[in-house]
This record gives sequence, C-alpha cells and structure tokens, in this order.
Amino acid sequence: MTDTTRVAVLVGSLRTDSLNRRIAEVLRDNAPEGVEVDIIDGLLDRIPFYNEDLDAGSAPEAAAELRTRIAASDRVLAVTPEYNGTMPAVLNNAIDWLSRPYGAGALVGKPFGVVGATPTPTAASGRTPTPSAPRASPARGSSRTSPSPSPRSRSTRPRTPRSG
Ligand SMILES: Cc1cc2nc3c(=O)[nH]c(=O)nc-3n(C[C@H](O)[C@H](O)[C@H](O)COP(=O)(O)O)c2cc1C
Repeated sequence: MTDTTRVAVLVGSLRTDSLNRRIAEVLRDNAPEGVEVDIIDGLLDRIPFYNEDLDAGSAPEAAAELRTRIAASDRVLAVTPEYNGTMPAVLNNAIDWLSRPYGAGALVGKPFGVVGATPTPTAASGRTPTPSAPRASPARGSSRTSPSPSPRSRSTRPRTPRSG
C-alpha cells in the first residue's frame, strides 16, 4: 500500500494561454505532501474521435496512453471551460475513450471531480454566452435557436461516465 494519492487532471482547453491549464498547474504546484498531480496535457487533441471500429483491437496510441495514465491514478479531476453550456468536445471524447471497454473502462469506480474557469458572467447558468449558438429545443419539437432556456433546464456538469 502506498501513501501517495495520484490525481490525474484532464485539461479541457487546448488553448496556449488557457486559464484552466493555469489552474491545473497551480493545483499541481501546490499539491500537499502525499498528492501527486499528473496533468494530462498535449494529449487529448491527438486522440481520434471515439469510434468502436478503432477500439476493436489495440486502441490508437494516444488513447492507449490516456487509459494507462488514468488507470494509474486514484482520482480524476477535469479542469475545463464550459463550451456552449456543456463540456468541450475534446474532454467529452476523452471520457468516451475512458468509459470503454464496457464495464472495465479506466474511469470506472474512480472519484471524478470537475472545476472550471471562465470570464463569462453567464457561466453555469444554462444560458450560452453566444445566442447564435445552435441549441435544440425539443419541447417545441424544433431545432431553432433558443436564446433563453430555463436556467435549470440542463446540467453543465459532465456526468460520471457510465458503461453501457
Ligand atoms: C466554442 C466556445 C464556447 C464557449 N461557451 C461558453 C459557455 O457556454 N459558457 C461560458 O461561460 N463560457 C463559454 N466560452 C468562453 C470560455 O469559457 C472562455 O473562452 C474560457 O477562457 C476558455 O477557457 P480557457 O481559458 O481555459 O481556454 C466559450 C468559448 C468558446 C471558444
């Protein structure tokens, strides 16, 4: 048994000057004794979109590396911006890869937390900062843009991945 807690951090932004990457670095640089932080950076954009065909044999190299690093961690933290009221595609894609194989993905059973930063005042309100962003409006049976949905109509939190 080891006294070290390993925390893998998934950074949801690819931007060079990402605020969220800076937060991840502050967390790593200020981690208390006994906590190791592995910032998984420069990897998510090398992972192809999840496709069961690609996952039939050995996974693509970057996806395999992601799985190995998450498997070696005790906990996982996503440090991410909100994109259009939800998580950025690179983070969602990483979670898709980590949720498979069915029932045995590297994330299964691991505590998963999310923190994020944005300069946008409407963050986490359920309202997108860009009214032109397309949003489906199933209640009306149409796909036209819905500029002011109910603030509680959707969650902005990535859900703990479930297999299946
Ligand atoms: C495609 C896109 C969608 C965005 N959607 C949201 C949003 O829904 N809510 C929000 O608060 N900010 C939104 N933003 C603003 C980002 O949160 C902001 O740019 C943030 O600084 C990005 O994080 P980073 O600094 O780590 O790259 C969006 C930005 C982009 C590029």
